[in-house]
Amino acid sequence: MSYHGYFALAEVYDLFNAGLDYESFANYIEAAFDRFLERRPQLLLDLACGTGRMTKILSGRGYDMIGVDGSAEMLAKAAENCGYDPKILYLLQDMRSFELYGTVGAVISCLDSVNYLTKKEDLAACFDRVHNYLDPDGLFLFDVNTPYKFETVYGDESYLFEGELNKGGEFLPVFCAWQNHYVKKSRLCSFDLSVFYGEKDGKYRREDESQIERCYTREELEKALQDNGFEVLGVFGGFDFSAPKKATERMFFAARAKK
Ligand SMILES: C[S@@+](CC[C@H](N)C(=O)[O-])C[C@H]1O[C@@H](n2cnc3c(N)ncnc32)[C@H](O)[C@@H]1O
Repeated sequence: MSYHGYFALAEVYDLFNAGLDYESFANYIEAAFDRFLERRPQLLLDLACGTGRMTKILSGRGYDMIGVDGSAEMLAKAAENCGYDPKILYLLQDMRSFELYGTVGAVISCLDSVNYLTKKEDLAACFDRVHNYLDPDGLFLFDVNTPYKFETVYGDESYLFEGELNKGGEFLPVFCAWQNHYVKKSRLCSFDLSVFYGEKDGKYRREDESQIERCYTREELEKALQDNGFEVLGVFGGFDFSAPKKATERMFFAARAKK
């Protein structure tokens, strides 16, 4: 199994997500460790780690990190973002079939990476792998975009982003056009993206990429976790562990690997 996505977008991912508060997200992760584990784990897997922003923060907080992602371009950015860090091991692997050299105390998967598992068999394969590589009672934390977000926020919207990329001290323009299409029947949401990278000679290089996310209900995810050996510890609507509400856009799952 291999994943082919996040190639055109990798270069601009951090720029367009600059406003995301990964520090507060990391605070939530550590609060979940304190809430659900007897002691904080030492070794963590950041599954679908992308450009490694969370991996880097958690390494900085003292954890040994493994970052798995299926996109070589995203991992190249992660290596650039983190520099040489002996506490991080990056692996280019698929979420559905990854292999580690041993078990870890917790697996985290942030920012709707689980929605990229577009078939129920893929979701099951991924949860089975996670269970396999967790210590007994190890914690699995992930978040997904909610049905409300797919139906109401993403829908058939289009977005434009504009910014500048720092290329060795020279700032070059970049422009991204993004079109969504959500089909309620299949619950698949496609994102068609075109990125226009400004070059030093004033020309633009165009790169196109299509991504697909699947909308899962809370019940489907809870069942998939239970079917793959997990006990669901909680489903939250935010970093404060509050219950999800009707208009919650991101749901946070915490599950324990029963072994
Ligand atoms: C929305 S990004 C999130 C990245 C990162 N977790 C973060 O918090 O910024 C989704 C990531 O999932 C990865 N991904 C999607 N499907 C995958 C798969 N089947 N196997 C491995 N990685 C996958 C993409 O390459 C991308 O880096």
